[in-house]
This record gives sequence, structure tokens and C-alpha cells, in this order.
Amino acid sequence: MKFGYFDDSRKEYVINTPRTPYPWINYLGNQGFFSLISNTAGGYSFYMDARLRRITRYRYNNVPLDMGGRYFYINDNGTIWNPGWSPVKTELDEYECRHGMGYTIIKGKKNGLQAEVTFFVPQNYDGEVQQVVLTNDSAEAKEFSLFSIAEWCLWDAQDDCTNFQRNFSTGRVEIEGSTIYHVTEYRDRRNHYAFYTVNDEIDGYDTDRDAFLGSIYNGWDNPETVKAGKASNSFADGWSPVASHYKKITLAPGESKTLIYILGYAENPQDKKFASEKPANLLTREAWVLNKEKAYAMIDKYNTPEKVAAGLAELKSTWDNLLSIFKVDTPDDKVNRMVNIWNQYQCMVTFNLSRSASYFESGIGRGMGFRDSNQDILGFVHQIPERARERLIDIASTQLSDGGCYHQYQPLTKKGNADIGGDFSDDPLWMILSVAAYIKETGDWSILDANVPFDDDPEGKHTMLEHLNVSFYHIVNNLGPHGLPLAMRADWNDCINLSCFSDTPGESFQTYTNPKFKAEGGYSKVAESVFVAALFTYTGPAYVGILEHLGKADEAAKAQAEIDKMKKNTMESAFDGDWFLRAYDANGEKMGSKECEEGKIFIEPQGFAVMSEIGKEEGADIKTLNSIDKYLNCEYGLVLNNPAFTKYYVQYGEISTYPGGYKENAGIFTHNNAWIICAEAYAGRGEKAFEYYSKIAPAFTEETSDIHKTEPYVYGQMIGGKDAKNFGQGKNSWLTGTAAWNMVAISQYILGVKPEFDGLRVDPSIPAAWDGFTATRQFRGDTYEITIKNPDHVNKGVKALTVDGVAVDGCIVPVCGDGKTHQVEVVLG
Ligand code: GLC
Ligand code: GLC
Repeated sequence: MKFGYFDDSRKEYVINTPRTPYPWINYLGNQGFFSLISNTAGGYSFYMDARLRRITRYRYNNVPLDMGGRYFYINDNGTIWNPGWSPVKTELDEYECRHGMGYTIIKGKKNGLQAEVTFFVPQNYDGEVQQVVLTNDSAEAKEFSLFSIAEWCLWDAQDDCTNFQRNFSTGRVEIEGSTIYHVTEYRDRRNHYAFYTVNDEIDGYDTDRDAFLGSIYNGWDNPETVKAGKASNSFADGWSPVASHYKKITLAPGESKTLIYILGYAENPQDKKFASEKPANLLTREAWVLNKEKAYAMIDKYNTPEKVAAGLAELKSTWDNLLSIFKVDTPDDKVNRMVNIWNQYQCMVTFNLSRSASYFESGIGRGMGFRDSNQDILGFVHQIPERARERLIDIASTQLSDGGCYHQYQPLTKKGNADIGGDFSDDPLWMILSVAAYIKETGDWSILDANVPFDDDPEGKHTMLEHLNVSFYHIVNNLGPHGLPLAMRADWNDCINLSCFSDTPGESFQTYTNPKFKAEGGYSKVAESVFVAALFTYTGPAYVGILEHLGKADEAAKAQAEIDKMKKNTMESAFDGDWFLRAYDANGEKMGSKECEEGKIFIEPQGFAVMSEIGKEEGADIKTLNSIDKYLNCEYGLVLNNPAFTKYYVQYGEISTYPGGYKENAGIFTHNNAWIICAEAYAGRGEKAFEYYSKIAPAFTEETSDIHKTEPYVYGQMIGGKDAKNFGQGKNSWLTGTAAWNMVAISQYILGVKPEFDGLRVDPSIPAAWDGFTATRQFRGDTYEITIKNPDHVNKGVKALTVDGVAVDGCIVPVCGDGKTHQVEVVLG
């Protein structure tokens, strides 16, 4: 069952009922100011950091689920409704929500009155613009009232939902004309404020929540002022400040009226916090006055429909440009819309927000993840390489000089997060992969010389190359009894915690240190991760390639020897006959072996082992891929492990705490499905690669949205696995490494257009039925128009490659570097 449709020409998903199986959201903003917005206008806004600069309030895990947002209410002769249906939920005569690239348009119609609201955050602007167009489509004149509402969060989102004894007494506002300023804590230590304005005179306002709702017993679905058709002009004094504008409107038949609301954020320099004079029309209870110059300038920027149209056009052209860097035309529309629009869009959002703020992440808990942010770069580096470079340097600066990493860092301070600490065994390797991806994309080798400090030596002069070196050797220097990498607190799988042996509720599986390992540095020196071994052999060659390019042949040979040794150790100690083991636990027992009772096979190490060609000469790759198909493949994707754990295995940590079929315990964890898609494509099995791709790619789940539940335009972290009661049900949509890795899987492995150090590899692995496809790829200043022909209907194999008609050996298009457009023709066979 569908709840809308893709409008590819406008790059939008159009939702045609407010009753989606879950709130289907979009993100506005992609620089400093961000908003989440659902198809019923729920969500919240923040500046830079969803915890420390939260602007509007949201109630998580609420009933009903999606409560809190920016709502408009209309009282049309006693009929009260919202353009986005919620919170009043009056049945609308027409409803539509269009989520586009950085904007959302919600349209509702009731009794001949139409309200269309366009929400967006313009480029280089710290505010959300809301343009409301009201049209009287009826034959009668209409007189009605319109109310806006935004509920201020008291800045620190964590504090906001815990510290009421203080917060209920700190709320402050100023009101000047049609603008309501939120100035809680401004006088003392804050230098930032927010405002909500409308570009017209108003007939009243409310800034006190209880006054707006009329009673503490009312909810957002039942505000007394809206019912009364009149604001109460309340002035917030402590309690819960809000911002609501009230306007009386009369429209003749056929007449329209446009109002522009802005929800903005501004910061003042310390010495310019206050205005010297108090304007005559200012309402405040304070002796001091906020310096509002920045807000005035922001308001001036978007106070007419023409300016709004220009801002929207600029946003659209920004996205058109970003999406023109890589475009494909394949025989499958769903592939096209994923690759050309939605997957790339999601990659940008995950890059911006890591795992901080979604409808499944509160924005309070986590900063930016070290491994997550590095992987995010893989999916979007071609779009804005300069920001990738900056991000790489930020992340690397939180690394320790022995190669260890803080697992997370805060975007506002750019400092490692001491609460979580480090010792996640996979973290350093992702940085090798992301820095290599950046160089392969841009050819900018200078990043290796960039001055990048270590967290424990902030003043020291260190280069990015040194960071790669310590990352690589952090693995080599921390091996266990089989010569495989120590598992430490966790590897990529946060829930395989082989050292915690936790038996007390509330202990964090990732950070709890079991006394028995305290003396050893916090984790077992026996437990080993086969996943990290495989990731090491997959990423290591990029490090070797970098050293070779720099002419450091000795160092390259030394690193290569470590990779070869790791492959050998893995084959000797971790190949279980038909697939690779997952780990050795702290007791030295095999995990993920046919000898195990449950959890006999795990997905994570397999793809990287296959792509590293571990044991290829003995057929380990094909055996492994066949085992995945046999044990992990099901209708909605590949489960993480099989059979699911049905008991608590204290020696494995968090994984077996989940009911079978969910999350890391045999859920379909879509992130790692991509690694198998890549591996199948790598092995030349284009059919299987495409089968797995199409099981989880959102556009392919659209028809079963009633089962899948989450948005059909973006990936979620997981889908209920075959052991789950809710088999096929998506969860944790939007902020997931799945976005980047599936972008890699489809673009670089299936479609096979893959940047390398010395050029652009074109080596597809596609369904044999395809006659071919075309792609446009901007790469290092040139544009390559690529045509793939598949006359023999094979899966893989480049028979001939020409660039501007000239034959090239192999499948790497050399960098032309003349800024021109080049024709690349590839014949498979
Ligand atoms: C989540 C985390 C990611 C981790 C994965 C598996 O997606 O963000 O860091 O690798 O779970 O546990
Ligand atoms: C991370 C992962 C999640 C896992 C959790 C364990 O948040 O995203 O999958 O369940 O760690 O604490």
C-alpha cells in the first residue's frame, strides 16, 4: 500500500494522506540552522547542535507520537483546522505534503479555504521561512482568523526536559510589533536569541503557553484562544514561553493573501548584547533591551514573496548543482530516483547531522560518531569535497597519538566526548578509508600534509599522514592470540561487547569496565574481531597506495606485509569452512561458527573478506557468498546473524539482549547489507548484487509502505528480520551509515563508476537483462559522459573502453584534466 508517490521531475515525494504509518519527515537547512519537519508539520529546530542550541521544543516518545512543531490554526466560522491536519485533526477536504530538497510544502483545504505553507531554510541563513498562502476558493467572502505557534525550548535540550525546578522560572520574552523575541538566559551568560515574526501587522499575540492553550488541561489539539477566535495578548513570565501571532483575515471569492513568517536565530558579540535605547513599542519586563540589529537584517532579507521566491530558487539551484555531479539513466526508474535524488540527498543529511537528531535520535544523546562521520564521507564526498576535507581534519583532531580514537565528539566544541571514551576497535580504520576516498575523488594529496593535531598533543605539529600511520598501526599493535585484532569494547557492531560480562541493569555495554579486565586496560586481551581483521585487509591497501604515491616504498612494503600476514592469520584461524567466523570471545571460544548453537553465521566480516580476496584461491569467496544467500537472505533483506539469539549470552554483551529479529540480533541491518552488495558485485555476481540492493532500497519498499512503515524515500538503520513478529518493518530512518554505504554500493560497485587514485574506474556489475545505461560524472574538473553497452547481456566484464574514441587498456579512465566534457564508451562482454 502506498501513501503518496514520487514526483521525480520536481525531486519531491508527494504524500497524499496525513495518516502515514509513521511521521514521514524531511530536513530543512544544510549549514548551521536545521529543522526537522514531518508531513503534519511536527518537528523542531536548532542551530548547529541539537542539544546545546535547541530552539523549539519537541516531546519525544509522546502519545500521540508526533506532537510539537510549528503549527498554523485557522478558525473559519467555528471550524478549526490546521493545513497539515495535526494537531486538531479536523478532516480536510484536501491534503498534500511535498517533501523536496531542503523544503516542504504542506497544503490543506477546508470549506473552500485553501492554506498552502512552504517551509524552508534559505542558503546562508539561520532561520526557517514559512510562507503561508491563503486562497478563498469558495463563492462567498470569508472572514476567519489565523494563529501561528512555536514553543520555545530553553536552549539546552537535555536540561529543558529535566530541570523544571529552574526552567519554570527562567522563561523571558520581548515583543516588538509583530516580532516575538525569545531571550531566556540572555541577560546573563548567553549571547544568542531567537525570534518569530510575520511580515504584516497582527491583531494580537500570545507568548505564554498556558494562556494560548487556555488551561493547563488543554493540549495542542484544543487551544482556547483559537476556539475563542482571539488572542489573549499574554506576556510570558517564567513558565513556558511560546510565540503565537493572531491575525484576522477577510478574503473575497477568488482572493489570496500571502504571509511570511520567519523563525530565526542570531548571536551577538559580547560587547554588543544590549541596545542602548528602548523603542516606544517594545514590551518587556526588563530594564535591559536586546540588541536586535541582526534580527532586523534577517527579517528584511525575506519579508516579501519576491524575496522568498528568490531564496527558494537559490536553494533549488544549489541542489540541482549538487545533484548534477553524478547522474545516471538506467533501465530501472527506482534506481534512477535513488541515485539521482534521494540517496544523495540523504547522504548530505547524514553528513550534516551524523546520528544526532531524527525521529529516532533525540538530539540529546549523541554527538558526532568517529566511525559514523568517516563513513558518511564516502557517500557524499563528490558533492562538497571542501566540507569533507574540513570534516576529516575535525575528526582526526580528536584522535590520540597512539591511533586510538574518541568514539564521539561534540560538533559545537569539536572535542572528544569523554563520557563514551574510546577503544572501539574499528574506529581508526574508517579514517584511512575516508581520507583515501577524499583523495581519490579530488586528487588533493595536500591533505596529507595538513597540520592536524592529536587530542593528547594539541599544540604539536602533526600531519594527516601521521594520523593514517597511527591508525594503521593501532590495529597491528593490538593483536590477540590468533594474530587477529583485539575486539576491545566493540567493533562496528556496538552490541558485540566481548569484555563487559554485564549482569546489572543499567550498565552501558559499551562503557562499563568489568573488574576482571581493569588491570589489562579495560578489555580482554583474548577476544578478537574477525570483522576488524577483514576491514583491515580491505582498507589497508589504500594506505599502501598512498605511501607508494608518496614514494615511500619501504614503508609501503612494510604495511603490505602486515596486510598479507593478517590475511593469512584470518584464513588459518577464522575461516569456518563455508564462511568467516565473527570473533573469538574472551574465553577463546569461536563466535559465529557452525559449532555454535545460535548465531552460527554473521554478516559483518564476510563482505570485506571477500573483497580482500582472503582465501580466494581456495574458493572462500564464493562459498562465503553462497552461505550468506542460504542463511541470511530473506524477503526483506539480509539478516545480521542466524539463527537469532534466544538466550542472553553474557560473554557477547548487548547483542543477545534484543529479541530475535531486531537491531543487531538478526535484524536486517541495512548498513551491512551494502557490504554484501559490494562483495557480490565485486565477485561479478550482478544478479545477486541487484537482488539485495532492491530488497532494501527505499524506493523499492514504496508499494509495501504499510508493512515497511518508514519513509519510502530514505533508508532506515534496520528492518525487522525473519525472526521478528514485525518482519519487514523499518525503523530508525534517516540518520544511518546505510545511506553512504548504499550510495557506494550502487554507484561504485553495481554501476561501477569508482574514483581511484589515478583515474575513474568504470567496471559495472549489473543484471544481465540490462542493455546498458548512461551516466554523467563530474570528476576533477572534467565531465565524463559515460555510455555502457551490454550487447552480450553479461553481468560484468569490460571488453572495450574508449575515451573520446581512443581505446584505453583496462577499465580506468585516466584524468583528462582539461575542464572539458569527454565521451566514455564501455562495452561489456
Ligand atoms: C549504529 C551506529 C553505528 C554502528 C551500528 C552497529 O548504526 O550508529 O556506529 O556501527 O549501529 O552497531
Ligand atoms: C548504538 C547503535 C545501536 C546500539 C547501541 C547500543 O547506539 O546505534 O544500534 O543498539 O549503540 O548502545
